[in-house]
Amino acid sequence: MRSRKSSRGILSRLVWAALRGRPSVGDERLAERGVATEGRPYMSFRMIETQRLLLRPFTSDDLDEFVLLCADPEVMRYIGSGEPQSRERAEMRFNALIKHWNDHAFGPFAVATKTGDEFTGFCGLQFLDNTAEIEVGFRLAKRFWAMGLATEAAKASLRFGFEELRLDRIVAVVQPENIASSRVIEKIGLRYVKDARFYDTDVKYYAINREEYRPDDSKQE
Ligand SMILES: CC(C)(COP(=O)(O)OP(=O)(O)OC[C@H]1O[C@@H](n2cnc3c(N)ncnc32)[C@H](O)[C@@H]1OP(=O)(O)O)[C@@H](O)C(=O)NCCC(=O)NCCS
Repeated sequence: MRSRKSSRGILSRLVWAALRGRPSVGDERLAERGVATEGRPYMSFRMIETQRLLLRPFTSDDLDEFVLLCADPEVMRYIGSGEPQSRERAEMRFNALIKHWNDHAFGPFAVATKTGDEFTGFCGLQFLDNTAEIEVGFRLAKRFWAMGLATEAAKASLRFGFEELRLDRIVAVVQPENIASSRVIEKIGLRYVKDARFYDTDVKYYAINREEYRPDDSKQE
């Protein structure tokens, strides 16, 4: 397990992230991508704090933990083909997550513990496979499962989507056997809509519209 990092260390890595230009993308670029921007404040460098977690930009320090996450057969069991990923493929995915932020001004956050900034995995919003729809997704390292952390991070992501990005709808897709993920999706308020096929796999497709969304009182700063 990684040792606790000093706040100075965390700050310098976040500054690094900011200098890499991940946040600070304006409404114009969201509008170009078809994301509603009317009434939404200019979005700048963004982190979200929940009760136990920090949802923050990825940094280069996260890469090794990310590779380990994607190499774990249990973590990858219900993702795509169900195969663990090589370092090369995981690095491609890592770069794609960062590119998503740069291209669209939103994307999956790195999820870290508030005490110690330990990388737990990722959670957030991204375009659903070749569509203009936006999905919420999450992936946590096994030692962080069964503590309600995915639900906590996913709730914060939903709130970010509806309250800051001012999205009209957020969807989620999950392989039918992935009970834990389905449960998280249902707990945050999405409803099953249909069976579908995305990412070359059969999935259950869930959705929540803006008018159905009810924020809870979970801590978020
Ligand atoms: C899916 C995942 C993110 C869930 O993370 P988590 O932090 O353990 O989730 P939470 O603790 O917030 O909630 C899990 C829920 O599923 C339930 N659950 C887990 N496994 C279950 C099982 N086999 N049968 C029934 N319920 C199960 C838990 O009891 C809990 O529900 P509850 O609060 O009503 O008791 C985590 O398992 C993971 O990273 N899996 C691998 C990656 C993945 O599949 N991502 C999703 C792709 S769609």
